[in-house]
Parts: sequence; structure tokens; C-alpha cells
Amino acid sequence: MAASTRLGPKVLLLVHLGVFSWYLFTIWSNCSLQTADRHPGLRSYGGRWKYLTFINLVMHAVFFGLCVLVDAVHSAVSVKQSRSGTPLNLSRARDFYFTVLAFPVGTFVFVSFWTLYTYDRELVYPKLLDEIIPIWLNHAMHTVIMPLLLLQMFLQNHRYPSRTAGIFSLAVFVALYLSWVLWVHHASGIWVYPIMAHLSPVGLCVFLGGASLSMAPLYLLGEKLSLMMWSSTGNQKKKKK
Ligand SMILES: *[C@@H]1O[C@H](CO)[C@@H](O)[C@H](O)[C@H]1NC(C)=O
Repeated sequence: MAASTRLGPKVLLLVHLGVFSWYLFTIWSNCSLQTADRHPGLRSYGGRWKYLTFINLVMHAVFFGLCVLVDAVHSAVSVKQSRSGTPLNLSRARDFYFTVLAFPVGTFVFVSFWTLYTYDRELVYPKLLDEIIPIWLNHAMHTVIMPLLLLQMFLQNHRYPSRTAGIFSLAVFVALYLSWVLWVHHASGIWVYPIMAHLSPVGLCVFLGGASLSMAPLYLLGEKLSLMMWSSTGNQKKKKK
């Protein structure tokens, strides 16, 4: 197998364990803070699972958990010098997960949150939340996700699927999440994001359509960045199947 990582399996395992623990800690902090009485959104239908931010946190936790697993298997296997049937499949799953879900969705959360926040924070993260939620936790959920994705991209060369397969899989995820958001509104009358209550039906279509369509460029951005980080190493050429 061509080298597709900048660190040895043991160090990589440590790094991934660290990031994985960080995500578990962030999720735990999010869930354990007693805010339900002052944060109406969390008590209502769907709880935190209606927010893309939270789903993204869980997805990233699962992703880095998968990395830990792959590293652990790799270091065990390289000791025994055995053929790598299972690890290869596992690392393919990890690459697919990263390229199709973790990177585009994480980048979307980062970009859309901070764009709306800068435009008018009341639309996404009302000022009163500052009294309830520590600043570091806000950054853990919306900011730190980005450097961690870039770090992961830098440390390992992820194989991108074909563009059709990649963008199609991402579109399936987007369609599922959109259906969930619309279902929450249908079932409980609430809009997941405050901004949606301010929009006309046409505005809503433009907003949701625009948000969904912006996923494809983010996917391509990931592909491009990954290529830039890895093309100079010569791995791209050696790695041809
Ligand atoms: C936890 O995450 C949800 C979903 O993103 C968010 O609405 C809520 O404000 C967060 N709560 C805390 C205490 O971080």
C-alpha cells in the first residue's frame, strides 16, 4: 500500500484518540449543561437532533472513532506483517466518510454559522445564549471543527470517490436532513432555525435550495484542497490503482 499518511500508525493513533476524546467531551458538555428551561429549542420536538450542528458533532465523533479503529488495526497488523484485507476496507470506509460527509458538512456548518452570525447573530445564535452557553463551547461546536478537519486532511491522504458517486451520496444526506427539518415543522409547527420563521415560502425555497446547492462546491473544495496538500509528495502518482 502506498504511504498515504504523514505519521506512523502509533502517533496517528494518539492524535486520533485525542481528537476523538475532544469530541466526546464537547458532546458531553453540550448535553450535560442544564439549559433546557432557558433554551426552548432543546425541549421541543426532536431535541438537539434537529440541529445540523449537533448532528455534525456526532458525525465527527464517529469519524474520529473510526480513525482510531483503523489506526489500531493497522498498528496491530503491521506488527504481524500480515496481508491487509480488513484494514484496507476499513480505511476505504473512513476515506468515504471523510470526503463525502465529514468535510463538506463540517465546512458547511462552519461557513454558514459564521456568515449568518456576522450578518445578524439573532438569526442563528441569539445573544441570550452567551449567558447560558460558555464561549468555548460555542467555538468547539462551530469553529474548532474546521481546523480539526484540515489537520486530518493534512495528516492523511483520503481517496476521493468518483465525483458522481461523491456528490450523489452527499445529496442523499442533504435530502434526508431537509426532509427531517420539514418534518419537524410539519409535526410541531416549529422551524429548526429562527431565520426560517422570517422567510416567505419563496424565500424559504431559495434559502433551503441555496444551502443545499452550496454543498457541492464544498465537496469539490475538499477534493481540491486534498489534492493541493498531497500532490507535492508524489503520492498521487504512486497511488494509482
Ligand atoms: C447543544 O447543541 C445544540 C445543537 O446545536 C444547541 O442548540 C445548544 O445550544 C447546545 N447547548 C449547549 C449547552 O451547548
